[in-house]
Amino acid sequence: MTKVLKASPAAITGFGPVTFSDPVTASNLQTCSKALKENLVVAFPTETVYGLGGNACLDVAVQAIYAAKNRPADNPLIVHVSSVEQLHRKLLPPDYKIPEAYHVLISEYWPGPLTILLPVLPGCPVSKLVTAGQSTFAVRLPLHPVARALIELSDTPVAAPSANASTRPLPTMAAHVVHDLNGRIPFIVDGGACEVGLESTVVDGLVLPPMLLRPGGVLLETIRNAWPNVVTSKANAGKNEPVKTPGMKYKHYSPTAKVVLARSQSGAFEYVRKSSMRSALLTTKSFIPPSDLNTLVGSLGTTAQAISHNLFRMLREMDDQGIELIVVEAIGPEDGGLAVMNRLEKAASEIID
Ligand code: TXA
Ligand code: MG
Repeated sequence: MTKVLKASPAAITGFGPVTFSDPVTASNLQTCSKALKENLVVAFPTETVYGLGGNACLDVAVQAIYAAKNRPADNPLIVHVSSVEQLHRKLLPPDYKIPEAYHVLISEYWPGPLTILLPVLPGCPVSKLVTAGQSTFAVRLPLHPVARALIELSDTPVAAPSANASTRPLPTMAAHVVHDLNGRIPFIVDGGACEVGLESTVVDGLVLPPMLLRPGGVLLETIRNAWPNVVTSKANAGKNEPVKTPGMKYKHYSPTAKVVLARSQSGAFEYVRKSSMRSALLTTKSFIPPSDLNTLVGSLGTTAQAISHNLFRMLREMDDQGIELIVVEAIGPEDGGLAVMNRLEKAASEIID
């Protein structure tokens, strides 16, 4: 029922009008952009993770996204556009000026893994199901040629959460989307593995001081260059607490195996030794497991960028191998570690200090 269609990012050229050097990519993206226009949902690669897209201005398409993912309806979605021109033409009032606070960030990180909040103004066509009734909507301009081509060809702003089933690990390859959503959506565009491996950074520049709502592909350190006074919002919230970024209160990113996050090496080894479960230890910057530790060992990489890129693919691979317990070595918040740890703290059911 679900069709997987290949698209080669290298065959897509140019900002502005999209051109293709490969007829298969062209035809597959035309099929899928037509589907988007007809209010169907399509999974597609972005530079961060695979997204599950639908027309952001049509309730039926947005409903289909929530239904396919089994996503709670109070968690708003990000709208994706293919150009700033399209953002203005499709979603903003004629004389609207994007707030000054965003100018530097937009010029440096669009296209790219940065999401900003803009006000929902009178006449705004974005579905209320996208904003979950908030007075703002989240928008980003993705860098991935396949994402951009799809949005450009359909000339439709596309609401797209990550294309995993709700609570599952992020999808960084088409096979992950097939695993979670096969039979639940009509099309998956396979454009290879995603570069970043976790989602975009979400910022709110409509408030003073400006806020980082979700750490992600653009580092907090670099956001600080533009916004020295940026504050970070609470990483976790209780089930009934109102939160600025509603996504933060749900369990997220979890494989079937139990994930344990370890800050101490000796604590990690002891945990593995005491457990009777089939275990794996995923190392990052410094753990060196002894050879008599009876566990599968894998390296996620030694930089936050490498770890982000590998993390969710490897968590899913552990499930495929029948691993029941995954102990992951924690990293510090610096140099992109904040975004990785934000995801790992939600995926983990226990933390060893
Ligand atoms: O990299 C990404 O951002 C991926 C790819 C597919 O582009 N998309 C993604 O979308 O992660 P989603 O829907 O899974 O995450 C949206 C995040 C959630 O944390 C949500 O709560 C927040 O953005 N968000 C969306 N609209 C918001 C709003 N109006 N106010 C505050 N937070 C908002
Ligand atoms: Mg998500």
